Amino acid sequence: MSASQLRDLVPPARGLRSHYVAAITEESIGQEVTICGWINKVREQGKQLIFLDVRDHTGVIQCVLPHQEGLRTEFVVAIKAEVAQRPDGTENENLASGRVELRNCTVEVLNAAEPLPFPLSDRLEVDESTRLRYRYLDIRRASMQRNLRIRSRVNAAIRRSMDQQGFVEVETPLLWTPTPEGAREFVVPSRLQTGQAYVLPQSPQIAKQLLMVGGIDRYYQIARCLRDEDLRADRQFEFTQLDLEASFVGQEDIMNFISHAMASVVEDVRGINLPEVGEITWRDAMDRFGSDKPERRFTTELIDLSKIFASTSVRALSAPTVKALVAPEPEKLSRSRLDQLIDRAKELGGKGLLWLKVIRNETGLSVESPVAKFFSESEISEVLSATQATEGDIVLIVADEWEQAVKILGQIRLDLGRHLVDGAVLDFFWVVDFPLFEGHDEHGNLLSAHHPFTMPNLEDIELLESDPLSVRSQSYDLVLNGWELGSGSIRIHRRDIQEKIFRVLGISEEDAQDRFGFLLNAFRFGAPPHGGFAFGIDRLTSILAGEDTIREVIAFPKTQSGADLMTGAPKPLPPTTWSQLGLTPRPQSPRSS
Ligand code: AMO
Repeated sequence: MSASQLRDLVPPARGLRSHYVAAITEESIGQEVTICGWINKVREQGKQLIFLDVRDHTGVIQCVLPHQEGLRTEFVVAIKAEVAQRPDGTENENLASGRVELRNCTVEVLNAAEPLPFPLSDRLEVDESTRLRYRYLDIRRASMQRNLRIRSRVNAAIRRSMDQQGFVEVETPLLWTPTPEGAREFVVPSRLQTGQAYVLPQSPQIAKQLLMVGGIDRYYQIARCLRDEDLRADRQFEFTQLDLEASFVGQEDIMNFISHAMASVVEDVRGINLPEVGEITWRDAMDRFGSDKPERRFTTELIDLSKIFASTSVRALSAPTVKALVAPEPEKLSRSRLDQLIDRAKELGGKGLLWLKVIRNETGLSVESPVAKFFSESEISEVLSATQATEGDIVLIVADEWEQAVKILGQIRLDLGRHLVDGAVLDFFWVVDFPLFEGHDEHGNLLSAHHPFTMPNLEDIELLESDPLSVRSQSYDLVLNGWELGSGSIRIHRRDIQEKIFRVLGISEEDAQDRFGFLLNAFRFGAPPHGGFAFGIDRLTSILAGEDTIREVIAFPKTQSGADLMTGAPKPLPPTTWSQLGLTPRPQSPRSS
């Protein structure tokens, strides 16, 4: 949001103040106003005058007053004064209020402040751990003010859209029971029933399906979810989803509900119309970009060379899939950088990577590479024609099993090109036709790609027992600028299909009854066909705010190691608390298992 958009949001003043700072303009000259806020800066002008820059969340204004002792930065003040034009030549075009100043000021100090542990200017880099330790001060900085206000607008726009589409906001419990969605869960031991525990919800997934059985028809919630997983730039233990579910609808309908919400958010926060959100199949996304959440803002794609090398004598290329990438910015790829890329491919689980540098010799285009001598003439010319590479280009090639090859080259594509994207562009699109299962667990059981309540594509249902890995699901992701923003699916509402899936997943009937018998039972009493979706509000807001991590749009986030530096959590508890819960802590709990 720009400063002018922020000014549009200035609420009418109430309470101690007559005006927010941003509401004071040249039109206010001659008026008496009272502003409230913090002293941003104190500047002494000789022995006679001081200039105070006073800040509220809408802006900063200059106050001119006779010299006075005892005013320091971050003191909380109320200032009654007269609005005056700044003298010619002293205007500050960087400030929205830079053409006016306050004079004849009466300053009331509402509270003093000790010197701050770090300066609040956005221009100065402050170590993140210091910012998090004093987050309440960090929130005073303009960037955090802006981010939290963007977040509030995102939520408001979502609520408006949901309301317009007839969704009902229902709150679901936080003290819940395990759900099979893949993440490790936080556990809350019960005091009244020692030895038993609640689980904090990874998402309201099961609760919202039960609401469909309950006839709510269209449910939504701005839902807090909790997952005990490794933290990264786009992951926190606690995060917030727009979670929705609807009955008697198909995939297209759910995608339309979500697109409506997204359009509402983008229009409100960025002031632009959301173009139609396109779609790509999972297979295509993997094949062309090597990722199920492709960053498409730079156009380089993976090129299939498998046919060319189907019966090659180049040993390193005899694999089911051979994929190539014409490297962006080849001039930056020195020999040592290319060696690093080979190491990178190995680090990503591959056998390595071949590179070919396209050169021009007397007969036309050819290639230079440590392995060039192993290539046949026709292989070289076919590679050049398939990749359309020209003089100076570098072609990177990975050969492996399909999934491995595309993932490795997809990651290298990102490593080399991510910095080339236009940060202002919002590239939303759907990824559809995900597989129902992805690989196996350590016991050889199949793993759900989304969760076990996802409806298989009915065309593939015959393959459930014979070739389960090729069964497609009725699930879909929304991707924005290379981040997975959200995912959803049409659910299984029929008990017979659900039981079949549990069987394929190796979840016994007993186990299923034990873990989510309440859901299976509910399905016996007339469950409507239903489906839903959830997207991460933290992720959406950070992209809209132009931030690289979701911590920048969360008021009180945890560090990468899960600590809250401000409160000190997690902390040891007094022995009595443990004993009331029927628990005995180990002297020092292991850091992770
Ligand atoms: P899923 O697990 O894909 O689906 O989560 C949906 C979206 O939630 C966000 N998200 C996170 N954001 C921050 N930190 C995390 N640790 C984190 N984990 C997930 C992502 C993600 O795309 N119940 C299903 C949805 C459904 O099927 O309706 C679910 O939760 O943006």
